[in-house]
Amino acid sequence: MIKFIASTDKFVEPASLEQKVAEAKALLHQIGADPMAGWLDYPASYDQAEFARIKETAGKINADSKYLVCIGIGGPYLGHKAVIEALGHTSSTQILYAGNSFSSVELENTLAQLGNADFSVYVASKSGTTTETTIAFRFFKQALVKKYGVEGAGKRIYVTTDRSNGALRDETIKNGYKMFIFPDGIGGRFSVLSPVGLLSIATAGIDVDQLMQGAASEREELLANAGGDAATYAATRVCLDAQGFGTEILAAFEPSLRLFGEWWKQLAGESEGKSGKGIFPASVTYSTDLHSLGQFIQGGPHRLFETILRFATSPEGLKIPTDPTNLDDLAYLAGEDLGLINQKVLEATVKAHSGGGVPVLQLESPDLSARSLGALIFFLELSIAFSASLFGVNPFDQPDVEAYKTEMFRLLGKPGY
Ligand code: PA5
Repeated sequence: MIKFIASTDKFVEPASLEQKVAEAKALLHQIGADPMAGWLDYPASYDQAEFARIKETAGKINADSKYLVCIGIGGPYLGHKAVIEALGHTSSTQILYAGNSFSSVELENTLAQLGNADFSVYVASKSGTTTETTIAFRFFKQALVKKYGVEGAGKRIYVTTDRSNGALRDETIKNGYKMFIFPDGIGGRFSVLSPVGLLSIATAGIDVDQLMQGAASEREELLANAGGDAATYAATRVCLDAQGFGTEILAAFEPSLRLFGEWWKQLAGESEGKSGKGIFPASVTYSTDLHSLGQFIQGGPHRLFETILRFATSPEGLKIPTDPTNLDDLAYLAGEDLGLINQKVLEATVKAHSGGGVPVLQLESPDLSARSLGALIFFLELSIAFSASLFGVNPFDQPDVEAYKTEMFRLLGKPGY
């Protein structure tokens, strides 16, 4: 379903690429055996009863809340926000986000946005102790209690957290909040297609069945081919890195995919970037960024490569209006579909950038639907697990994130630091 398109002979010796692809494919078993590879089988084996409960809860939130405030950071923030922005929000409940920074201004604005409207709160955290998340939760809990009383507030709090550990889990059980399980073998950045992401995605009115089916059929196809194109994409990236292309830019031609780029940056950066290894992940939205970063990409030092997200079909777009005065010199485009123009800009960019010495890789999805997005998410997750493993690092940990936290807790006077 997701097709990898690239011609890298100019940059990577075909024989070494072939060898790297074989190396990647041979790692599939090792990846699957990791206790944190639960996301690999999840689309094919998730708990249907839990899934039904998620959809039912989304229906309840739609019926009683104008806003759902989603609290979380990292995976339990970027994943669901990326999907909702990419596919568009169709329900009556607006999704707000909190707990993804220490910004007082942002928190105040979100609290103010609630006004007198009915709202519910959704907190997702595997550890249940992440500081940004717990601080924001305290504020919104207080707002709920003020509006609905302690008992009423408890009925509007939804939590996804670890089944057996963490302060959030203990509070949830003590206060009887509705709880979903953060699956044991799934870390934050691999969690979007699990209860962590699905509750808010379903609340936004997105077809979560289609999302999961897309991931499941992509999984089936890739695993039947020892990783297929996901392995080839990963191997190509690793070979390019070895040739000095140490930065990858994920480029999309739809502004609604901006957050998807942010999600992928966490997935790639946190999975690969350790022990001095990894490719620095960046993202751009074209054509917007062709007018800002395009110059650097084409003409700056040749240390980066691009991966362009493209769609085989896109819905009919607006047609350029005709204007007999033609003062703007656009007569040659009158009547043209804007979506097709965007497609031609993509082709032009591929040609110009690759002609200018930038390795350009492309990932083609059939369309921008829930089904195809589920497939793309799974493809990228598997591909990053492959590349991190090829780099010889553990794709599923993030040991170096703790360094800033230790310093922060020391400065904030947290007991024990
Ligand atoms: O990918 C990860 O595991 C991390 O980035 C987490 O998503 C992030 O740190 C939030 O952690 P938690 O879910 O424990 O609140």
